[in-house]
Amino acid sequence: MDALPATDARPKIPAAFQGEAVTWVHHWTDRLFSFRCTRSGGFRFTAGQFAMIGLMAENKPLVRAYSMVSAPWEEELEFLSVKVQDGPLTSRLQHIKPGDTVLIGRKATGTLLIENLLPGRTLWLLSTGTGIAPFMSLIREPEVYDRFERVVLAHTVREEKELAYRDLISRELPAHEFLGDEVRSKLLYYPSLTRDPFPTQGRITTLIESGRVFADLGLPPLSPEADRVMLCGSEAMNADVSAMLEARGFAEGSNHEPGSYVVEKAFVTK
Ligand code: A2P
Repeated sequence: MDALPATDARPKIPAAFQGEAVTWVHHWTDRLFSFRCTRSGGFRFTAGQFAMIGLMAENKPLVRAYSMVSAPWEEELEFLSVKVQDGPLTSRLQHIKPGDTVLIGRKATGTLLIENLLPGRTLWLLSTGTGIAPFMSLIREPEVYDRFERVVLAHTVREEKELAYRDLISRELPAHEFLGDEVRSKLLYYPSLTRDPFPTQGRITTLIESGRVFADLGLPPLSPEADRVMLCGSEAMNADVSAMLEARGFAEGSNHEPGSYVVEKAFVTK
């Protein structure tokens, strides 16, 4: 019997997804990696949004929600992922190489949008772990700097090597051809570690409660009049910070009504 042509052996990608080619993979740690892929002309998104991303597995799409790390104006798409050895998707996704095909859902969505926030002076982007992903897109969105006088990006992880994008934020962006001026004058990066010694140690919740973050950055304590907050972390972090904000008079915004803060889970945990 004749062998089937190779194209017929390939699983058919459902219409809700676009197959894109992996162009770059970077492993930060044995638990964390980033990858880039090509971006079809039709895929549009706003900074802060997520889409369903994954692989074909046993002839079916195996996908999870991933926030876009890349800015909307960038040519390629970038994502940040955990690696879980028995996780249905990430146990496979962690092995992708340039040239492999990944699935990108055609529709982007999410609540971490600047239009879901009322006007304010300082934008606080508070993240843990892979929750930094949507904020990497937002800090490269020029409109963010038009809307706010200051942008604070706080990222809490356990160990230093989990501070993904630290170099990009602290070295590359301030020198960026188009964004450099805004980044240098408005963006404050505030990394903290919870399980390793570091100049800034502790959970962001503790650093807010103690007032340490405000003293370090030379900013007034959070107020619903002047500050706007976006949260993206674990369920526990989102719940704890939301409760702190509500107690200070902040009101959650949504795609229907803007507020003084918005929340999204850092999705992929498996
Ligand atoms: P900790 O080490 O004290 O648990 P994880 O790796 O488990 O996703 O956590 C990422 C980071 O988020 C860790 O530094 C962790 O601190 C921190 N974290 C976990 N839960 C909360 C919470 N409820 N509020 C603030 N930070 C949290």
